[in-house]
Amino acid sequence: MSKKSVTILAIESSCDDTSAAIVEDGVVLSNITATQDVHREYGGVVPELASRQHLIHIIPVVDVAIKKAGKSLDDLNAVAFTRGPGLLGSLIVGVSTAKALALSMDIPLVEVHHMRAHVLAHFAEAPRPPFPFLCLTVSGGHTQILKVNDFDDMEVLGSTIDDAAGEAFDKTGKMLGLEYPSGPIIDRLAQQGQPVYSFPEPQVGTLDFSFSGLKTSVLYFLQKNMAEDPHFIEKNLADICCSVQTTIVNILIGKLKKASELTGIQHIGIAGGVSANSSLRKTLEATGQKLGWTTYIPAFQFCTDNAGMIGIAGYYLYLKGKLSSQRVAPLARMEI
Ligand code: KG4
Ligand code: ZN
Repeated sequence: MSKKSVTILAIESSCDDTSAAIVEDGVVLSNITATQDVHREYGGVVPELASRQHLIHIIPVVDVAIKKAGKSLDDLNAVAFTRGPGLLGSLIVGVSTAKALALSMDIPLVEVHHMRAHVLAHFAEAPRPPFPFLCLTVSGGHTQILKVNDFDDMEVLGSTIDDAAGEAFDKTGKMLGLEYPSGPIIDRLAQQGQPVYSFPEPQVGTLDFSFSGLKTSVLYFLQKNMAEDPHFIEKNLADICCSVQTTIVNILIGKLKKASELTGIQHIGIAGGVSANSSLRKTLEATGQKLGWTTYIPAFQFCTDNAGMIGIAGYYLYLKGKLSSQRVAPLARMEI
């Protein structure tokens, strides 16, 4: 007798991307994301605008995800959704939609932790890491090194004491007059530059991170050079981007090396929006080759916020029987 498939609809709305996906037996069949351009002119996500945009996008996005996967609502076994952490007004839209669909179809809900889902994005495609593995999660709001023991068991080995790595990219971008989010723009510009300027690396706890000092030293560096030459940024943009990016990547990889030394774990992955950074990806691979690590980098579409990763996390939690009730509420803050 053939095994019955498990088909999950997943919904992600924690920040400014509205995303829905269909995951069947651990394979992502569709992963549809509507991005929000309304924040661009404000240099950051405006929470009130984000939740209003989610309301506009959520039903069409869910509809397209189901159709693109060649499925119908009747095929679904469960609805997985991001419970948090994130912007409350944004989360409410995804959580309410998930609840309404699950209630109307009389199927279970599976709540998913957004940052854990970034980690579990590694299971969307081969090669899938074995447990335990180390994962550097780097996004706009988080920077952590996790020891991942199982789909539902992760330990925080270190985290940022101030800004996240993504914020370091975005705040640097703002100082350089780049649009939000600046991470991908800095990544692109850095490819034409050299790391000619050096910025100090922070001295913090063994596996912890700090990026606020970098932000301040970039600010002073730009103020000093712009006072001498008002066209300094414009003339040296690629080199500045490359230098800041190299500093951030060196900090991240340095801590991963320490975590591997301390735990003896050599299966190492990166996850979260900043893991889309081309220099971080290249440096991780090169470091891994030198130190004998097996490295794991999710495909680009699973790095930034997407419902595919929520569906993957939801699928494995569903198999473990970790279901949620209709009374579940979104949470802006959630511990790993
Ligand atoms: O995980 P994510 O999509 O959303 C959050 O949960 O925060 O991460 C967004 C962050 C932003 O700070 C963005 O600038 C950064 O990821 N990012 C990048 C790149 N692509 C996205 N940073 C550096 N290089 C990139 N290619
Ligand atoms: Zn994220």
